[in-house]
Amino acid sequence: MAEQRAPAWHAIDDAFTSYLNANASIHERWLLVQTMATAVLRRSVLGTVKVQPGWRILDIGTGFGAIPIELAAMQPIDAVGIDIDREVLWAAETIRTDVVKGGGLIADSRVTFVAGSAHALEQPDASIDLATARFLFQHLPDHATAASELARVVRTGGLVCIIDVDDGLSVSHPEPSAAYERLARAVAARQQRHGGGRQVARTLPSCLDRAGFDIQALLVIPQAAYGSSLPDDLNRKMLLERFVGMRHELVEEGLISADEFDDCLARYSAEVIHGVCTIEAHMAVVGRRR
Ligand SMILES: C[S@@+](CC[C@H](N)C(=O)[O-])C[C@H]1O[C@@H](n2cnc3c(N)ncnc32)[C@H](O)[C@@H]1O
Repeated sequence: MAEQRAPAWHAIDDAFTSYLNANASIHERWLLVQTMATAVLRRSVLGTVKVQPGWRILDIGTGFGAIPIELAAMQPIDAVGIDIDREVLWAAETIRTDVVKGGGLIADSRVTFVAGSAHALEQPDASIDLATARFLFQHLPDHATAASELARVVRTGGLVCIIDVDDGLSVSHPEPSAAYERLARAVAARQQRHGGGRQVARTLPSCLDRAGFDIQALLVIPQAAYGSSLPDDLNRKMLLERFVGMRHELVEEGLISADEFDDCLARYSAEVIHGVCTIEAHMAVVGRRR
């Protein structure tokens, strides 16, 4: 009989927090911070996919592994997280081990991490009940190949749940500062140049439909906040880390000069803006394999 209990989110949160605290200079730290900061939204979306006991789940571009770990806290499942970045997978392994120690996974759940590419999955045909990918397609150069790989590995009747951004769904009042806008524009241009993009969500339903999925639901997941934008904010720190981590590529690729980058970064780090209302949204696309 499957174990029935509320997911032990605290054990997962504790494992992520301990990992962050113990690894101050970790590779892709901004992603770890983002993963932690977006836990509530992510879990609410995952809760809408009615995952069944025993499902074989594949999370592609898993990063620090939050999705397979969280699904394995909700139901007894067999989940695999894949990513092209081996370093984040080592971190995901450590976090998973800590979650298990803290009693955060359902006893019969299994979570493993393996290196792999969304464009050439190693899983056999029709071997997966649910495939997920969050904030992955915005980075991919070849959406059609990734979608056809999903269609190959998901069994007939199985599901995909793809979550991604669409900047067309985001507004801010007052408008972001010129320094922030400049940095964000350079990052978005780089994503676009490498085949992804920050308006990817609107393209995903037709992409998955063409690959062989009937679209079951499109969920827009909004998040609104009002407050001050201050140098100490978690959000600010996360974005700063992200910008700093991309400085080399942005400058190398001529998307912004080193001087302009450093000037914008210094101005953005120090800015204080009171009374900011932001509305941001992600979209989740749920499809069923024909
Ligand atoms: C923005 S992170 C999202 C991580 C995680 N899904 C989340 O929601 O926090 C994107 C991840 O996709 C991975 N990635 C990028 N291109 C990939 C590819 N072709 N195949 C597999 N993973 C890829 C990156 O290494 C990174 O860990």
